[in-house]
Amino acid sequence: MGFQKMPGTQDLLPGQVERWQFVESKAREICRRFNFREIRTPMFESTDLFRRGVGETTDIVEKEMYTFEDRGGRSLTLRPEGTAGVVRAYVENKMYGEPDLTKLYYIGPMFRYERQQAGRYRQFHQFGVEALGSVDPALDAEVIALGYTFYTEVGLRDVRVEINSVGTPEVRAAFRGKLLEFLEPKRSVLCKDCQSRMDRNPLRVLDCKHDQHHFEGAPSILDSLDEASSRHFEKVKQHLSDMDIPYDINSRLVRGLDYYTNTAFEFKAEGIGAIDTIGGGGRYNGLVGEIGGPDQPGVGFGLGIERTVMILEHQQGGEAAKPRIDVYLVALGEAAERETVKQLQLLRQAGLSAERDYQGRKMKAQMKSADRYAARYTAILGDDELAAGQISLKEMDTGEQRMVPLASLASEIKG
Ligand code: HAM
Repeated sequence: MGFQKMPGTQDLLPGQVERWQFVESKAREICRRFNFREIRTPMFESTDLFRRGVGETTDIVEKEMYTFEDRGGRSLTLRPEGTAGVVRAYVENKMYGEPDLTKLYYIGPMFRYERQQAGRYRQFHQFGVEALGSVDPALDAEVIALGYTFYTEVGLRDVRVEINSVGTPEVRAAFRGKLLEFLEPKRSVLCKDCQSRMDRNPLRVLDCKHDQHHFEGAPSILDSLDEASSRHFEKVKQHLSDMDIPYDINSRLVRGLDYYTNTAFEFKAEGIGAIDTIGGGGRYNGLVGEIGGPDQPGVGFGLGIERTVMILEHQQGGEAAKPRIDVYLVALGEAAERETVKQLQLLRQAGLSAERDYQGRKMKAQMKSADRYAARYTAILGDDELAAGQISLKEMDTGEQRMVPLASLASEIKG
């Protein structure tokens, strides 16, 4: 039966890939405006980096990593997310030594062995940003603003921003105790996931989709914040309001990765079945130190490209606009055919997209091919025109046809 792609992976065919290209080019363009520069890190790293960085008790590390031993006996893992690798590169390349902030972005594949579901893949793609070197709450707000601007400018409607503060590790330790006091009497009625999370990472229990009705009256981490964390959170909210970025406070929002401190946020939208989170991030003041660097703070997000594209399709329908070619060259006769090979090269060098027939088809079939490529022009060359140094140029939208000198074909098309 031949081969098939692995579960949780996708082929992006022409016709689908255009929307991806559009989304990616928007991401790059917006990062340019926000003064974030691209970084490309390896797709695999040492397994220990993710254990340390993402956290031993997270779902990612416990059950979702693609981990293998290479032929040199090293334990490697396909990156399940982008932050740990970026922070590793930041430390390894001593980028913290630069006088300005380090503002980085990346676009690329990530790998998690997850249960398949609409919007959940095993190879998926993130657009992410990381800003390292400042504790200024304006930077948290800037990162959220960048993500919001991205969604708005790719054309997504009704994206919601939810924010929370998860405080410091000390705040969380104290809150964990209070929360467990509230949860313990309910243990037996909670779902299996919640029960296991109560033991491993109680804060995540409040994130559960099924058990929300049991959490009425649960303590809020926002009531447990220390003064500095409270002040930080207030400032982030102020800046968001100043920038007219709408947000909701969700005190139960706890992200699935361990490194967050203070600000945690998610972008949400409807349109992919049960999943409504399309991006998330937050501040991680301890992570750089945790993986062996100096004590430098950071804040960033990761946005799922599959989920962005799925919601765009849901809201806008169908395929993205088909790309057009500039000109289709039709040759009639042997000498003309030889000339089109050369002309094609000249047109392409002049910056035009150009195509011809390679299947020996009749003129009519070639014209149909030009239509399928949505060519703006068709240029028809017969041996007689060739002898006169001319070519017939037809503008496809108007049907207008004229003879132009072969030598100026490219400039005639460029107009
Ligand atoms: P995350 O919440 O694990 O955060 O992932 C961010 C986004 O990646 C999700 O909101 C979702 O859109 C997408 N995503 C995650 N898993 C899948 C999947 N299996 N299939 C499709 N899309 C998925 C992080 O990864 C953090 N590194 C974000 C961050 C950067 N925080 C600070 N800096």
